Amino acid sequence: MKTLLNTLTIKEKIGQLAQLSPFLFIKNLSVEVAGYVRELHLDNDKIFSSGSVLGIGSAEEMIQVQQKYLSNSRHKIPLMFMADIIHGYKTIFPVPIALASSWNPDLAKLTARISALEASTSGIHVTFSPMADISRDPRWGRVVEGFGEDPYLSGVFAESMVQGYQNDGIEKPGNLAACVKHFAGYGASEAGRDYNSVELSRMQLFQFYLPAYKKALDAGARLIMSAFNTLDGIPCTTNNFLLREILRDKWKFSGVTISDYDSLQQTIAHGYALNRKDAAKKGIIAGLDIEMASTTYLSFLEDLINSKEVDLALLDDAVLRILELKRDLGLFENPYKGADQDLAAKIVLSEENLDKSQECARESFVLLQNNGILPLDFTKKIAIIGPYANSRKTIGPWSWHGLRDYHETITEVFAKQVIFTSNVSDQNELSSSDMAELEKADVILLAIGEFARESGEAHSRSDITLPRNQASLVALANRIGKPCVVLLHNGRPLVIENILNADAIVECWFMGSRHALALKEILLGKVNPSGKLPITFPKSIGQVPLYYNHFNTGRPFINESDGNEYVSKYLDIDNLPRFPFGFGLSYSKFHFSNLKLSSDIMTKNESISVSIDVFNEGPYDGYEVIQLYLRDYVGQIVRPVKELKAFQKIYIAKQETKTITFTITLADLSYMLPSGETVHDNGEFCVMVGNSSNELLHSNFSLR
Ligand code: BGC
Repeated sequence: MKTLLNTLTIKEKIGQLAQLSPFLFIKNLSVEVAGYVRELHLDNDKIFSSGSVLGIGSAEEMIQVQQKYLSNSRHKIPLMFMADIIHGYKTIFPVPIALASSWNPDLAKLTARISALEASTSGIHVTFSPMADISRDPRWGRVVEGFGEDPYLSGVFAESMVQGYQNDGIEKPGNLAACVKHFAGYGASEAGRDYNSVELSRMQLFQFYLPAYKKALDAGARLIMSAFNTLDGIPCTTNNFLLREILRDKWKFSGVTISDYDSLQQTIAHGYALNRKDAAKKGIIAGLDIEMASTTYLSFLEDLINSKEVDLALLDDAVLRILELKRDLGLFENPYKGADQDLAAKIVLSEENLDKSQECARESFVLLQNNGILPLDFTKKIAIIGPYANSRKTIGPWSWHGLRDYHETITEVFAKQVIFTSNVSDQNELSSSDMAELEKADVILLAIGEFARESGEAHSRSDITLPRNQASLVALANRIGKPCVVLLHNGRPLVIENILNADAIVECWFMGSRHALALKEILLGKVNPSGKLPITFPKSIGQVPLYYNHFNTGRPFINESDGNEYVSKYLDIDNLPRFPFGFGLSYSKFHFSNLKLSSDIMTKNESISVSIDVFNEGPYDGYEVIQLYLRDYVGQIVRPVKELKAFQKIYIAKQETKTITFTITLADLSYMLPSGETVHDNGEFCVMVGNSSNELLHSNFSLR
């Protein structure tokens, strides 16, 4: 690739760093240089020198763009096509926060695999996924796009997604290169407001926020996207510490860095770059390779190099990485790689893929509450009310290729059992004849929650209670004495204190193409729920941020009877979440006993094993997620009260006991200091095992 690089003019090299929208290539610029095109300071030369394309709709469009590009470009280096394939291409899978609720990383791999197979038929080569941002604040709309609050769980899921997309090599047909995002700390946007500033200590960054991105890169992700936010007062897109010191020097990442949408130009609004030229200079110096959507490199990099303000070697390094990625994708051999309408017709939205989507959905519902009403009796007469009763908008945000009208509604899947259905959000919308119908039902299903567009990018909320007075529907069911089951749809944890009177609550998130069919299996008990929350549900917005792996403080709250007033607590609410991280019920009860350690002393070069017996008391067979947490009692800096270090999802038949074994190694006991140094502490540790972060058996051991 070096030889090719050396044949390029400076302009051509700079072009490789530009990523533009596909329509720009198709437009006839001699007719129209206006609006968006003018704003971007584009002309035909710039467009036809650029290196990659953002978002592509179909094989046909890709072929058209690539053909036009190649016939207009001197060097004939193919364009690379990138897109947001977040939880599926056309077969849509559970949104990432839902997928993480399955605690089954094999499903993440499966969704990524099918997404890659489907998306690549339209000539997409790179997906902007997985999002490995840690979310501790449910106000943030993008909670829905990630795997929750925990570094370990998020890391395992991000890793599996990368493995699924890239599979046996990005050169092979049907595989995509993965671009992990948003580097770094985007999920820590202050007050949960999207794009807001981020204040993270180095300790927070190293221990909680960086590990999941790192795991995705260690799994081989070929690209990484910078985040919109600042870190230490410097926009991540021009952040030398992140893009060079961490990525290149420390982690030895040799892949491509890319900005987020327009984020290089946004450094001006941040007050970090004086103008577009300054933004370009700061971007390339900090280590940003591809500029997505804005065009400061195209406009100014040549001047900056000619005036020696920017070293040509920086440009060459960046271009080389991009050319190598194109080479590894096999684009030089086949610029139209993937684009194949016939294949698309065969595999996209195939029954087999849709079945897989249902398989993933099944494991991702979280049963939050159940007084025994679930599973439902097949013979029951059902009323379904709420905004999702007859809605097809259950595939969730970020599914832009997904066909919204394609899916069954909840009412449709229950068919004849449904005696009344209505999309009301508020009890006051029900007429007296509606009420008479409701009275005839044996059970009311309340399909309520947030609309899909109430979470996602730029969709933060300051109030995370149920919108539109939907809680009144639960009150109504209670008032008329009908059992009711809440089917909660949301892209973030909600405060649901005013619906806890429901007989059961099922966290449905947005499950994708087979949302309703999978939900029916859960409600009727064909499938025993096995999902666990990947993120804490608070009791009140005032408790936020609330997460399980917090520090102990010097005055921890023990319990009321302790009688101590001067402890870390609120006057008006306790410190506990409504539903903790790792929590989720089953139709069975699992009993944990016999926690055993192979030794209560561990040395640096040894491991110890931890075993526990899990008995399924019945009455159903089912999966249980056995979670292992550790606590380091005394550290060189304070350590969390518990940290997830391992988990296993195990099938246990009713009345069966299984013994589950984990191994603890020094790596599990190690952590990073604010300096970036990895250390461990000799001394006492606590190991905790159970089926939720607050339901744990424990035992101590020491490291010597
Ligand atoms: C989002 C990214 C996305 C990009 C490209 C941005 O607005 O923050 O997550 O990958 O757009 O669509």
